[in-house]
Amino acid sequence: MYTVPKLDDYSPAALDRAVAELFSALDAETAALHSESDWKEFRDRWMARKNGVLTQVNDTWLKAAPKEAKRDVGQRVNELKARAEAAIEAAHEKIHASSAGARLERERLDITLPGIRRPIGVKHPVLRVQDEIVSVFKAMGYSVGEGPEVETDYYNFESLNFPPNHPARDTQDTLFIAGQERKPARERLLLRTHTSPVQIRSMEKLAPPLRIVIPGKVHRNDPLDATHSPVFHQVEGLAVDTNITFSDLKGTLDHAMKALFGSSVKTRFYPSFFPFTEPSADMQVSCIFCGGKGCRKCKFSGWIELLGCGMVDPNVFGFVKHNGYDSSKISGFAFGMGVERIAILKYEVEEIQLFYEGDVRFLEQFA
Ligand code: PHE
Repeated sequence: MYTVPKLDDYSPAALDRAVAELFSALDAETAALHSESDWKEFRDRWMARKNGVLTQVNDTWLKAAPKEAKRDVGQRVNELKARAEAAIEAAHEKIHASSAGARLERERLDITLPGIRRPIGVKHPVLRVQDEIVSVFKAMGYSVGEGPEVETDYYNFESLNFPPNHPARDTQDTLFIAGQERKPARERLLLRTHTSPVQIRSMEKLAPPLRIVIPGKVHRNDPLDATHSPVFHQVEGLAVDTNITFSDLKGTLDHAMKALFGSSVKTRFYPSFFPFTEPSADMQVSCIFCGGKGCRKCKFSGWIELLGCGMVDPNVFGFVKHNGYDSSKISGFAFGMGVERIAILKYEVEEIQLFYEGDVRFLEQFA
C-alpha cells in the first residue's frame, strides 16, 4: 500500500518522479477495486481530511518545502489533488457500472421465449354429461329451466302430490334446514331431493304448451358408497300439451337414449310408482356393455335401470291453479334422470366418489 515519502529533493524532476509514483500507486489501487465497500475504504484512505493520503501530501510535501520551492510544489499539489479526486470518482463510476451490469446480466430476460402456459381447464365430466343430456332435448325443441337448491316442503313434496306421511319426507332421506320447527310444515326449507319441484315452478311461470328440461344439483341423506352420493345431479323433463300420450314419452326417451348411448341401444318401460306421475314407469336401457346378452354389469339381465318417468298426475296440474293447466284439456309426461349414473355408464367409472375428489389424474382423462 502506498505511503507518502518524505522529499528532500524539490527539483522539478524529483517532483515529477514523486507525482508519477503516486499516480501509479493510485492506478494500481483502483484496478484492484471490486465492490462498493472496497471503493469506500479506498476513498477514505485517500481523501480523509485527517491522515488521508492527500492530506499527507499536503503536510509532508507542501508544508515541508523550502520557501523557494513552495510555489511550484503548491501548484503541483493542487493539480495532483484535482486529478486524484477525479480518478477516485471515475473508479466509483466504474464499480457502479460493472455492478449494475452484473445485475442486468443476472436478470437477463429472453423475451423471445414462449410464455408460461396457464391451462384453462375443461368442463367437469358431470357437467359435460349434464350439458350433453340437455342439448339432446334442446334439439327436440325443449327449453332449459332452473330452480332453487334450497326448496320449500311445498314445492319439493306437497305440490307434487306426496301424501303427508310419505317416507321420502322423512328426515332419513331429506336434509332439512335446522331450526324451523315453528314454521308451518309446507314453508319449511330443505335441500331439494329431486329436480321435480321445478316442474311446478315452471308451470306457474309458463302457460302450456310446455317442453322444458331442468338440470341441477339435488341432495339426499344417503351415505356415500360406490354408486350413491349425498349430493348429485339430475335432469328433469316435462312436456305438457293437448293430446300428450305415453307413446310420446316412450318415443322421446327412446330417442334421447339412442342419442346418448348410440343408435343400437334399446329401451323398455315397466311399472313403477311416483306420487306425481300416473301411470309411472322405470325406464331401462339394453346393457351398453354386453348389448343385452347379459354380463356382470347388468347382473346378467341384459338391462340397466336408468330413470323414472310417467304421465303427469292430474292432481299435480291441480296445484298449478292458474295458467291453463286444466287436466280435462291437457296432459303431459315427466321424467327425471341422474347425471352421475349416466356418466358412470358412459365412461365406465368404477366409483361415484371419483367425480368429487378433484384428483387431476382422474379428471384429465376427460380433457
Ligand atoms: N323425481 C324422481 C326421482 O328423483 C324422478 C322422476 C321425475 C320420476 C319425473 C317421474 C317423473 O326419483
